[in-house]
Amino acid sequence: MVIKGSFYSAETPDEIQYGRQRLVVIDQAGYIKAIIAPQEADYQTIWQQAARSDSLLELRADQILLPGFIDLHIHAPQWPNAGLALDQPLAEWLNIYTFPLEAKYQDAHWARQVYRDLVKELLAQGTTTALYFGGVDNTGNFELAKACCHYQQRGFIGKVAMDNPEQTPANYRDANSAAALQGTEDFIKFIADLNHQAAVQLTPVITPRFVPSCTAETLAGLGKLAQKYALPIQSHCSESDWEDNYALEHFQKRDAAVLDQFGLLTQRSVMAHGTLLNDTDYQLFIQRQAALAHCPISNVYFGNAVLPVTHILHQPIKVGLGTDISGGYSPSIYQNIRQALISSRQLHDGVDGHLAPSQRGTGSSVLTAANGFYLATVGGARSLQLPTGQIKVGQLADLQIVHQNWTSTAQLTPQQIFEKLIYQTDKNNIDQVLVQGIIVKG
Ligand code: GUN
Ligand code: FE
Repeated sequence: MVIKGSFYSAETPDEIQYGRQRLVVIDQAGYIKAIIAPQEADYQTIWQQAARSDSLLELRADQILLPGFIDLHIHAPQWPNAGLALDQPLAEWLNIYTFPLEAKYQDAHWARQVYRDLVKELLAQGTTTALYFGGVDNTGNFELAKACCHYQQRGFIGKVAMDNPEQTPANYRDANSAAALQGTEDFIKFIADLNHQAAVQLTPVITPRFVPSCTAETLAGLGKLAQKYALPIQSHCSESDWEDNYALEHFQKRDAAVLDQFGLLTQRSVMAHGTLLNDTDYQLFIQRQAALAHCPISNVYFGNAVLPVTHILHQPIKVGLGTDISGGYSPSIYQNIRQALISSRQLHDGVDGHLAPSQRGTGSSVLTAANGFYLATVGGARSLQLPTGQIKVGQLADLQIVHQNWTSTAQLTPQQIFEKLIYQTDKNNIDQVLVQGIIVKG
């Protein structure tokens, strides 16, 4: 397939590449094989060949090609609660609203309905890869994997492990540590089988819900499983004062250090939130090459702070964006980019580049539209160690085609059009979505 049109792609956190009227050539395996500029000798030939063989996707003048987005943190079973109970504190929100909903996924029929709806919605929102928390019950988790497979979304999926009877309800927990670990291994095997028939491969993820929900035995066992199967790991880390205090009281350590003690902080780890991480924690993340999933909408409700993203981008810590459905209300990564930019202003107490003498901010914390776009694409891809997130030779063709419908764009520079795209695009502007070169929407 050949896509003809203009694109934006993040090079670094600060640099966006604009490719004008390129031919993006995609091979059979779904990788970008070549990108050809109009002045190159074979441009006309390849364009016409593709048109003749019916393999040309030619963008209209109002359309633009972007990499697909990566959602680095989303709770699939919480989708029906998106937008509900956001006035509650985290512990109540979990116990009264979230756990009872997650317990419903023993019902395969319910699970199939919700998960098909969710995966379809995420693809329509331009999310081509998602790192999902499933639930405790594999009946539901199997349906989530099948939904990703059905709609051909690149899913990283974890069976949630939670077995601490003191912090989890009797009707929604793993019966004991052995059950949590066995359930995790069962899920790993299920995915391996499903992958035999899947065009877009799925990846199982080791998923301790967070330190308070797990016994030490389960945390240790999950660390060993991550190593045995060489798998990614996801959890929550330092999201709230309550969570941080729990780690200190029960393990006499910082939350990140507890995860690390059990082998759960590795170069394949993606930890959600991290709003309360301190400099010692950052050093540990750097040593282990672990990633952070920044969930800016959710953090307004439960994060107890604003993640200092510019500070993190200046250190060698991988960071991407997560919706954290339903701690966040929106399935849109565009919305989360925008909230990340808005929240960054809240942290900033500089005036015209000069620091105000207050204790509120962290200095130059303002995120740009380019920074946000980087997080949603390259930041997520690096966190998952995936060759995607950029429009570049050798990358997977995970793409979205969007259109803008503003008046009088003639005077705008490519940089200005990019900024407006970041601020103005919603689901209705997303015309087509491709995962690994396969059209999955439009
Ligand atoms: N901590 C443990 N579980 C959850 C969850 O489902 N959402 C959020 N935001 N934080 C959590
Ligand atoms: Fe979460």
